[in-house]
Amino acid sequence: MKDDVLLPRPAAAAEPRRYKRWSIARVLIGFVAGFLLLTWNHLSETQSVILSKKGRFEKCSSDTFKATGFPFLETAERPPLEEYILRRNNLAKALIADHVDAFVVEPGYTFSYYANVTQPDWEVWEPEERPFLMVIRPEKLKNGSIIANTTFLVPHFEEVRAKLLKMPFEEEIATVTYEEHWDPYTTLWTSPIWGDRLSPKLMVDEEMRDFIQRGLGSNGFTVVGLFGEVEAVRQTKTEREIGILRAVNTGTVEAIRAMRQCLYHGVTENEVAEVLDNTMRAAGFQPFFDIVEFGKSAALPHGGHDGTAKLEPGDFILIDVGSHLYGYSSDVCRTFYPSFFPEPPPPEFNLTEKLVVWKLVLDAQAASVKAMVPNGTAAAVDIAARDIIEAGGYGKWFTHRLGHSIGIKAHESPYLNKGNFGAILRPGMVFTSEPGVYVLNEFGVRHEDILVVREDGDAENISGGFAISPWEP
Ligand SMILES: *[C@@H]1O[C@H](CO)[C@@H](O)[C@H](O)[C@H]1NC(C)=O
Ligand SMILES: *[C@@H]1O[C@H](CO)[C@@H](O)[C@H](O)[C@H]1NC(C)=O
Ligand SMILES: *[C@@H]1O[C@H](CO)[C@@H](O)[C@H](O)[C@H]1NC(C)=O
Ligand SMILES: *[C@@H]1O[C@H](CO)[C@@H](O)[C@H](O)[C@H]1NC(C)=O
Ligand SMILES: *[C@@H]1O[C@H](CO)[C@@H](O)[C@H](O)[C@H]1NC(C)=O
Ligand SMILES: *[C@@H]1O[C@H](CO)[C@@H](O)[C@H](O)[C@H]1NC(C)=O
Repeated sequence: MKDDVLLPRPAAAAEPRRYKRWSIARVLIGFVAGFLLLTWNHLSETQSVILSKKGRFEKCSSDTFKATGFPFLETAERPPLEEYILRRNNLAKALIADHVDAFVVEPGYTFSYYANVTQPDWEVWEPEERPFLMVIRPEKLKNGSIIANTTFLVPHFEEVRAKLLKMPFEEEIATVTYEEHWDPYTTLWTSPIWGDRLSPKLMVDEEMRDFIQRGLGSNGFTVVGLFGEVEAVRQTKTEREIGILRAVNTGTVEAIRAMRQCLYHGVTENEVAEVLDNTMRAAGFQPFFDIVEFGKSAALPHGGHDGTAKLEPGDFILIDVGSHLYGYSSDVCRTFYPSFFPEPPPPEFNLTEKLVVWKLVLDAQAASVKAMVPNGTAAAVDIAARDIIEAGGYGKWFTHRLGHSIGIKAHESPYLNKGNFGAILRPGMVFTSEPGVYVLNEFGVRHEDILVVREDGDAENISGGFAISPWEP
């Protein structure tokens, strides 16, 4: 009742006008809400189309790869204890040939090659300032065989931890220990392992830190750097290593081939890299680099653009990618067209020059394989490929070396460049052959495969066979 009194009575004439204004507002609000709703629906629909396109791409790629049944994995096994014993015994023979008393190495790639311990396995957060050294000496047995005898220099308080690494040795590891206030190098020098040698000659690995080399050199030892037969031990792969390299490199090429069949117009370089990485994971590989470049992006051999370019018909796709399996690397490259792009290409794309260059680079690769023979030089292999590209008129666009050795690291010595006449090829050495032509702001082509130098002179491809055409990479 009170309210009735307080509220002013609306004027009769004002009633319809107010009602009219209210209904216009309602209609407007309705429009705006409807518009917002429609826009929202549209946006989320577009988004789900994008998501499912990428999702479908990834599923297609993984399924196609899995459908191969992964036969390439058959040649790979994790290196067993005997493999590490073989490597150290090979090293012992090389030390005799190079006239040095011992090889010294700290946790890192070479240490993992001989005893399965990487730098982070020993010290997760940063390289340790206290030396932990593996010292491998050759020992002549009475029957004439040469075997390795290994000792570890280790801080006393870390001796048990070193043993817990369970390094691949048949017997318990032998240690020389030092206290925190001692000089570790003098401790090593005064240990009985050197017999009556006054200044034992040590060869240190290329990754040995400078302060350790100087510490050894100024406390009784003669120190030399990595060279000769010792360097050749890790360069010359065993059949077990070749088996793993074959598996991971063939599998990486097969993953590219599977992924290629699922590509679509408008996919970005970054999306392709992500899908290819996940595809390789399906075979138990751990991808560690992935360069994906469309069209003119590929004129930069190691990438450099932001990966957002979208795939357009007529673009070459250049992919250079690497994965790990049991600690061994793949490193392969293919340049190709997606399966949706017709062969032969419609004339309006004017791809004649690109197709000529594609073939030229393949011919250069084939020439390098023929030059990859025992007792040949690293330089001759590069030059064989370079001659072909120069004769084709694209010499100035082949801007990098032909290749490098590969193993537990993607890039290992010897390096195949046209100045390296000093490196002589041996059976068991494994190389990339990766000639390329890069026409800045236009396009780039590279083909990269992995080859083993063989006794009989014909290098063997271990990356699943060479590319055949841009439609059969
Ligand atoms: C080498 O180390 C890996 C893991 O770090 C291990 O799985 C493997 O068994 C080791 N190999 C040998 C022969 O001990
Ligand atoms: C020499 O003896 C070792 C250890 O007993 C054995 O492994 C090796 O095969 C022998 N070498 C030769 C040449 O007989
Ligand atoms: C390694 O050398 C040391 C010192 O010369 C010797 O005592 C030891 O028996 C050798 N170890 C093996 C396994 O031959
Ligand atoms: C086709 O490409 C070449 C270079 O590869 C160029 O010289 C030529 O003008 C192009 N032709 C047409 C019709 O665009
Ligand atoms: C390579 O050279 C070595 C020593 O110079 C020789 O023993 C070997 O037969 C040569 N191999 C080939 C395939 O020419
Ligand atoms: C490459 O190697 C594979 C497997 O070893 C072999 O089947 C193929 O014929 C080789 N291709 C060439 C061109 O040598």
